[in-house]
Amino acid sequence: MQQLSNEQLITIAKNYGTPLYVYHAATITKQYQKLKSAFEKSDVVFFYACKALTNINILKHIKSLGANIDCSSINEVKLALHAGFEPSRVLYTSNGIAFEEIEEAQGLGVHINIDSLSNLEKFGQRFGHAYPVGIRLRPNILAGGNLKISTGHDKSKFGIPVEQIEKVVALVNQYNIFIQGLHIHTGSEIKDVDVFVKGIEVLFDLIPRFRDLEFIDLGGGFKVPYKAGDAETDMQLLAEKVKEAFDNHPHDKHLQIWFEPGKFLVSESGYLVAQVNVMKENAAAIFVGIDTGFNHLIRPMFYDSYHKISNISNPGGEERKYAVVGNICETDTFAWDRKLNEVHEGDYLVFHNAGAYGFEMSSNFNSRYKPAEVLVKEDGEAVLIRKRDVFEDLLRNQVVVI
Ligand code: LLP
Repeated sequence: MQQLSNEQLITIAKNYGTPLYVYHAATITKQYQKLKSAFEKSDVVFFYACKALTNINILKHIKSLGANIDCSSINEVKLALHAGFEPSRVLYTSNGIAFEEIEEAQGLGVHINIDSLSNLEKFGQRFGHAYPVGIRLRPNILAGGNLKISTGHDKSKFGIPVEQIEKVVALVNQYNIFIQGLHIHTGSEIKDVDVFVKGIEVLFDLIPRFRDLEFIDLGGGFKVPYKAGDAETDMQLLAEKVKEAFDNHPHDKHLQIWFEPGKFLVSESGYLVAQVNVMKENAAAIFVGIDTGFNHLIRPMFYDSYHKISNISNPGGEERKYAVVGNICETDTFAWDRKLNEVHEGDYLVFHNAGAYGFEMSSNFNSRYKPAEVLVKEDGEAVLIRKRDVFEDLLRNQVVVI
């Protein structure tokens, strides 16, 4: 649902130029409250998967709501600390990283989930029982919106496959490693709540193997609606099922439940506003050529993702079908055969659900500038939170030797 009015978006676009990412803080708050209230009867901690959107103001806003934070690189860990999260509220779910990064994270005092036998062994050798750690397991469950964003299946690189559990246990015993938690993340855009229950069942079988266990981390991946008729993960139902599973688990041990939502918290809060540069018609389509491209929003080209687009300059206009294309010098299609209110050059188009993995996956391809970012604060004030690139940014790290 659109939370900012067309008029607000147009005013902001006129003030800051396009292409422009605009985020609505109140929507992030609303999504967080949805999670909190659904799970109020369980001992749950939410770690915002900040890979979705790392602008420091967004991190601070999410911190102010009471959430913790999940990171996927040492730099995200440093950004989280920079935003003011105490180390005990920061989780580093590592994936295929050099052991030095794990050591660095340990030095910063954050929670760490280790995802390989090799790093687990190094961790045991280095820290023994002295530093609690979680392990990321691969539960062999196929889930998620498409294969590119599925991570828990039997061909996935992520985590230690559950069938190697004896090896994990052997290392844990050999080095007396303090295994504080078990982690899985099976994919993104999981609508079916039973996927989480299946994951819980896989992990529950392993509880007796780890005497120091304090939490079960079920990762992120909650589905958000991208188009009319799309459903969101049913949080109430998920919370009920998770509670039931944890209340009835066969082992006499209280375990905290951790989640790592990314999209759920920030997707709907974000809009990418673009302006129409050129209209072009040929036998195949009427092309709407806009002043952005997959360098700014890669999801349609990369995952075939659907983003709702509205023509906020002519909301009452007659609907026609268009191909919405970017200005990148290769095929760069946002939408084909898409009904929009009649479009003219100069109109503002808005991409919805652009908060998660939008700006964050943007690049300078074609030597174009990355967009600016604006936050509409809880009090309604729109403030610039990232400047648009300038020409010097394109040259910043180049070393001129010729
Ligand atoms: N935890 C872990 C360990 C993850 O790898 C991810 C996402 C999350 C949590 C958060 O998942 P979410 O709640 O956002 O679905 N760029 C893709 C999504 C890739 C997700 C990667 N991992 C996209 O735009 O759809």
